[in-house]
Amino acid sequence: EPGGVTAVAHANIALVKYWGKRDSTLILPATSSVSLTLDAFRTTTHVELLDAPAGRDEVVLDGEPLAGAALTKVLAFLHLVRSQASRTATAQAARVTSTNEVPTGAGLASSASAFAALAGAAATAYGLELGRRDLSRLARRGSGSASRSVYGGFVVWHAGDLADPAAGDLTSYAEPLPTAPELDVAMAVAVLDAGPKKIGSREAMAATVATSPYFPAWTEHTEADAAEAADAIAAGDLPRLGEIAEASAMRMHATMLAARPAVRYLAASSLAVLDAVADLRAAGVGAWATMDAGPNVKVLCEGADLDVVAAGLRGIVLPGGGAPHVLLARPGPGLR
Ligand code: DP6
Repeated sequence: EPGGVTAVAHANIALVKYWGKRDSTLILPATSSVSLTLDAFRTTTHVELLDAPAGRDEVVLDGEPLAGAALTKVLAFLHLVRSQASRTATAQAARVTSTNEVPTGAGLASSASAFAALAGAAATAYGLELGRRDLSRLARRGSGSASRSVYGGFVVWHAGDLADPAAGDLTSYAEPLPTAPELDVAMAVAVLDAGPKKIGSREAMAATVATSPYFPAWTEHTEADAAEAADAIAAGDLPRLGEIAEASAMRMHATMLAARPAVRYLAASSLAVLDAVADLRAAGVGAWATMDAGPNVKVLCEGADLDVVAAGLRGIVLPGGGAPHVLLARPGPGLR
C-alpha cells in the first residue's frame, strides 16, 4: 500500500471480564467475555512500509518513540503479521505512528484500541486480506481485549475450542452480540488518582492464574455470566445486565485479591465511588459499577440517566478530598 494505511479503533470496557489465559503465546482466554465498545476513547494508527529490512521497524506513540516492554510487544506483533503474510524472508520494515485520543490524565490509555487499530492497519499494509473474524483473532494476539474492539457496541469474545491450542486459535474470536434495539446505554467514568505504579495486567493475570485458589471458581462462573449477559443484551434487560456486570467485576477483583502476593487495583477512592453508585441505586437510578486493572470506576446506566449519574459521581467527596473527574461515553463503532 503506497503511502500506508490508517486504521481507527475504539476502547471497550468488559462487562463480563477476561482475567486469565489458558495459553499465553496464542492469548487464549480461560473464559469468554462480553464488552461494550465506547465512542469516547480511540486510537488512530498509521502503518507505512519502509525501504528497509524487517528489524528496522519504527514505532511512534503520541509523538514519542516507543521503548521497553511496550515496543517489544509491538515488534512481536509486526513479526506475526509478516509471518501470516508469508513475508518473513523478504519483509520490509514498518513505520507505525499511533495517536491515542483519550482525555489527558484519564488513565484510560488502552491496549484494546491500540492493538485493534494496529491489527487493521498492519494487516492491510502487508497485503493480508482478512475478514472481521480473522482481524479479531489477529488483534487478540496483541492483547486479548483488543479482539473485542474490532466490533462496535456489545461484543462477545469466545473462549473458543478447549480441546487443543490450534483449535482454540481458530475459534477464539469476537463477534457482535444481537442487541435489543431499545437498549440505550451509556457509561460515566470516574477518573481517580492511580497512586503508586501497579503491576501490569498481563503479569497480574498470570500471577492470579498461578496463585489464586479462587481462580477455578472464577472461570467456572464466568462462562455462565457471559451467556447470561448475552441473553440480557438480546432482551434489552439493562438491570439484569448491570447486575451481572457489577458482579463480574467484583468477582474478578476478589479473585486477584486472593493471589499471593495480592493483586490490588482498587483504591480507597474506588470504594467511595462504589458507595455513591449504591446510593444512586437506592434513590431509584439504574447504575452499575465495573473496574479494570486500575482504580477508575466505570458506571453503566441508561442513556437517559447519564446526566444524573454524572452529577452523582461529581458530588462525591473522595477520601483525599476533592471530587472525581467524570468522563461520559456512549456506545462506539468498530474498527475502520
Ligand atoms: C481487566 O487484554 O490488557 O481489562 O491479553 O495480557 O494483553 P492481555 O490483557 P488485556 O487484559 C484486560 C483485562 C481487563 C478485563 C477485560 O478487558 O476483559
